[in-house]
Amino acid sequence: MNDNLRVSRVALIGTGFVGSSYAFALMNQGIVNDLVMIDVNKDKAQGDALDLNHGKGFAPNPMNIRYGEYEDCRNADIVVICAGAGQKPGETRLDLVEKNLKIFKEIVGNVMDSGFDGIFLVATNPVDILTYATWKYSGLPKERVLGSGTILDTARFRYSLGEYFDVSPNNIHAYIIGEHGDSELPVYSSADVGTIPLRKYMERSDEFQTEDLDDIFIQVRDAAYHIIQNKGATYYGIAMGLARITRAILANENSILTISAHLDGEYGENDVYIGVPAVINRSGIREIVELDLDEEEQKKFHQSSEILKGILEPYFD
Ligand code: 2OP
Repeated sequence: MNDNLRVSRVALIGTGFVGSSYAFALMNQGIVNDLVMIDVNKDKAQGDALDLNHGKGFAPNPMNIRYGEYEDCRNADIVVICAGAGQKPGETRLDLVEKNLKIFKEIVGNVMDSGFDGIFLVATNPVDILTYATWKYSGLPKERVLGSGTILDTARFRYSLGEYFDVSPNNIHAYIIGEHGDSELPVYSSADVGTIPLRKYMERSDEFQTEDLDDIFIQVRDAAYHIIQNKGATYYGIAMGLARITRAILANENSILTISAHLDGEYGENDVYIGVPAVINRSGIREIVELDLDEEEQKKFHQSSEILKGILEPYFD
């Protein structure tokens, strides 16, 4: 069958703030033909499906939206997991490990029991840890298990740099890599503004000061804390990031996005899921893009990886 005519199916697990915002983004962007929504709270999933169906007439493409059960995951191209406990004010993403690992063991087991053989996309925090857990619990090849990683941090970074330089974020190429959390890092050494290396671009005006780059990064790293303080949760940004990854997979885009991927020697790290740029297409992660990190960045990336490995250690051998 012509790949463009293929029906694309997404099964969404967890229709809380993130899951339902993701469903809304999918509908608005018209990138999926069939969406099934699953939640422990069936009334919530049913209500969301009905509410979304009422908006379908205004969407760019026809789309089948329904609520369902785990057995509906069987024919899904992608199972997206947004379920689990969320971060409370004052909690770090890593504080959620214990609670969410338990929930994930059950969810991933149920999905695999359905006969699912597609791609897992994980959004629940701590996302790098839970993506690793999904890979282990599912037994699927590492290329078909990915997490949202630092896609949102990278988007926040480009947004902030865009504001600073007064240039569209689309013309800023810059990545946040590492843990999606407190130990992440900016890769300034290979960042550019319209193909001009960022540090060189800063020479254009005395208004641009190197110290500002540290402030921009801190703003990005701590963005979620501020949003959670203000309104209890973050969801629109991550929902758009998940929709972006979904499109890259279903449209076989070969797009480079910063997602949580399993490293097997890349960046000198092994057996850890962590945020890195990777080429994403229909097969999931086609390849990991290894940036030319400077010494300081390499050190910070290694520290971030060690933090994640330390968290994984008691749970996985
Ligand atoms: C975020 O970064 C909380 O991980 C979530 O918005």
